[in-house]
Amino acid sequence: MKATQTMLNMTEEELTQVVLNRYENTPDVRLREILHSLIHHAHAFVRDVRLTEDEWLKGVLYLTSVGQICDDKRQEMILLSDNLGISMLVNLISANVAEGATESTVVGPFYVPDTEEKAWGESIQQLETDEMPMQVCGSVVDLEGNGIPHAKMEVWQTNTNGMYDIQDDQQPVNNLRGWYRANEQGQFLIRTVRPVCYSIPTDGPVGVLLAATDRHPWRPAHLHVKITAPGYKTLITHIFDEDDPYLDSDVVFAVKHSLTRKFERIESAVQDSQNDLPAPYFELRNDFVLEPLEQH
Ligand code: BEZ
Ligand code: FE
Repeated sequence: MKATQTMLNMTEEELTQVVLNRYENTPDVRLREILHSLIHHAHAFVRDVRLTEDEWLKGVLYLTSVGQICDDKRQEMILLSDNLGISMLVNLISANVAEGATESTVVGPFYVPDTEEKAWGESIQQLETDEMPMQVCGSVVDLEGNGIPHAKMEVWQTNTNGMYDIQDDQQPVNNLRGWYRANEQGQFLIRTVRPVCYSIPTDGPVGVLLAATDRHPWRPAHLHVKITAPGYKTLITHIFDEDDPYLDSDVVFAVKHSLTRKFERIESAVQDSQNDLPAPYFELRNDFVLEPLEQH
């Protein structure tokens, strides 16, 4: 008996085309474009590696475990995206930086939107550690170098054990995170402790991926900064310690050369009418340059 050629009997390529056609009526044009490309590339990938049913199921169970470990404090999906270099690729595509503006980098999975305001020179450290204090000073400026008054600067970093407060029950809520308001001239004075290099969490599915691929889990020492000011593009970035051994092999590919700075060791104490700082301490001087919002 002669087999009839129907829609139920497709080649690999025909199947891809039938699936693509089924999404053609997506009303949102951008969503249609994204889905079209996603299906096209995902099918090509499956064909390319000749994915077996066992491998497909392993992949499904892996992604399920990434979702299942997520909660309001743990974002393993972002961590996976970071580790596959996808977050950084999205950053590179969207970061169309004007000449002279400070470059952005990944936000990472440890940003917390609602933290506490800190006064000029107040430390974000709430838990005493033996790490040396550090002050970060400079200005938030526009492309011409004029201070941007009252810019909001959110900062966050790990404790000296390499963990963020939201990963670690031993730290008070909001330890080593908070936000500052730049003054009328755009100047700021942030106090913290010297950041350390740290391992991203390896006790979940991303750790399984790192182990299976023989990759180390380390990020170079950095301070995260998010700056918002009316009329300017929000800047999400890091400042990295230029002496850190992991700068060239950051597990999430997020280092940009322009974001590395010297953390200077200072031997004389600061006597400040509001906040003294005993010697020795580290100092990081840096201006952040914001781009104006596009005018329409
Ligand atoms: C972070 O720096 O907090 C971070 C960024 C990406 C992945 C993991 C951690
Ligand atoms: Fe970090």
